[in-house]
Amino acid sequence: MKKTVVLSVFGTRPEAIKMAPLVLELAQRKEIRSIVAVTAQHREMLDQVLDLFDISPEHDLNLMQQRQGLPELTGRVLSQLTPVLEKEKPDLVLVHGDTTTTMAASLAAFYLKIPVGHVEAGLRTPERYNPFPEEMNRRLTSQIAELHFAPTQTARENLLRNGLEKERIFVTGNTVIDALFKTAEKLPPPPQEKILLLTAHRRENWGEPMQNICRAALRLVERNQDLKILFPVHLNPVVRETVFGILGKHPRIQLIDPLDYAPFVQAMRSSHLILTDSGGVQEEGPSFGKPVLVLRTTTERPEAIDAGTVQLVGIEEEDIFSSAQRLLDDPKAYEKMARAMNPYGDGKACPRIVHAILEFLGMPQPALDMFSP
Ligand code: UD1
Ligand code: UDP
Repeated sequence: MKKTVVLSVFGTRPEAIKMAPLVLELAQRKEIRSIVAVTAQHREMLDQVLDLFDISPEHDLNLMQQRQGLPELTGRVLSQLTPVLEKEKPDLVLVHGDTTTTMAASLAAFYLKIPVGHVEAGLRTPERYNPFPEEMNRRLTSQIAELHFAPTQTARENLLRNGLEKERIFVTGNTVIDALFKTAEKLPPPPQEKILLLTAHRRENWGEPMQNICRAALRLVERNQDLKILFPVHLNPVVRETVFGILGKHPRIQLIDPLDYAPFVQAMRSSHLILTDSGGVQEEGPSFGKPVLVLRTTTERPEAIDAGTVQLVGIEEEDIFSSAQRLLDDPKAYEKMARAMNPYGDGKACPRIVHAILEFLGMPQPALDMFSP
């Protein structure tokens, strides 16, 4: 029997974490030949994830360059992925989320008239430039894709508002929860420590917002003598210059290289409080009942904010400092936020996605329930 070819394309750390359980699920289906092509928009941070999940891509474009710009990177993905698509002739290309890899890979597939399935579809903010360039990447990818795997009901509604066909939208939960559950179940019980876990990397936070975040962190350790901050710093040199410049010398602020996913999951579970501008961490923190303060002015992930475990605190030094200090001072406020919940998934997103793919490719499947928190 000729197998259906599904080619998954990804390039950065978060895409890899969220696509890894799906790639593993696809590999188990006898009807499918699963192929992985990585752009390596990230290098070390991608390889960390490929190693952990034991994924050896059939194609590695090795595209990352230091301080890469958006137009060049977009051009390299388009021109270097196209020969791979021409060679493999997939029946479906899968992309994830909202990076340059996502948008350019979708376009490359479209030019060859290959259908695209979009994992983590339908996230939206009301601002076209925030997050930048991710908001436009996801809007463009939605227009190209023929299958939309929406993590939540809110994401589905966003897609319907964009005029996309409801028969092609599947509410699956976010695959990050599949990855998180798989990883956490192998870890020992975490120690509980008075640690604030901090991550920040977003382009729109480069410059003054990143300085504000760092100054607020410094004030927090100075005010709270028993507090330590753990900050795995993204490898982007623009981020590192600011972070090491302001926080490099404090004995209770530990600046480290990006952690492998499993130790990072353990760091989230051990921490008292999480401050982040990351998309993925906003989704993961609530699973462990950790209050998450989001260092952004807008978010495409409103579900945990509505549930009360995540708070959008903005990018001003005083707002960040006072929001975190309040949770350190006021046990009632802390307890109110520290409730474990999974509004983003139940760990079964990947089987749901594969089910929808098989149906789309003409292989009818028994009925399956979609995600409902
Ligand atoms: C990218 C994504 C962003 C995502 C983030 C996750 C785009 C435009 N941005 O942002 O949506 O949230 O990844 O982390 O798609 N670098 C290394 N080694 C690595 C990774 C990065 O040295 O393993 C350095 C390189 O100098 C590289 C720079 O970081 O040029 C920026 O990488 P890039 O992927 O362009 O942007 P990110 O800020 O990482
Ligand atoms: N992460 C990791 N090591 C780290 C920091 C984060 O493995 O040192 C994981 C985190 O658990 C989440 C993902 O990386 O799943 C988020 O990636 P990032 O913040 O780079 O991107 P975003 O989610 O904002 O696009």
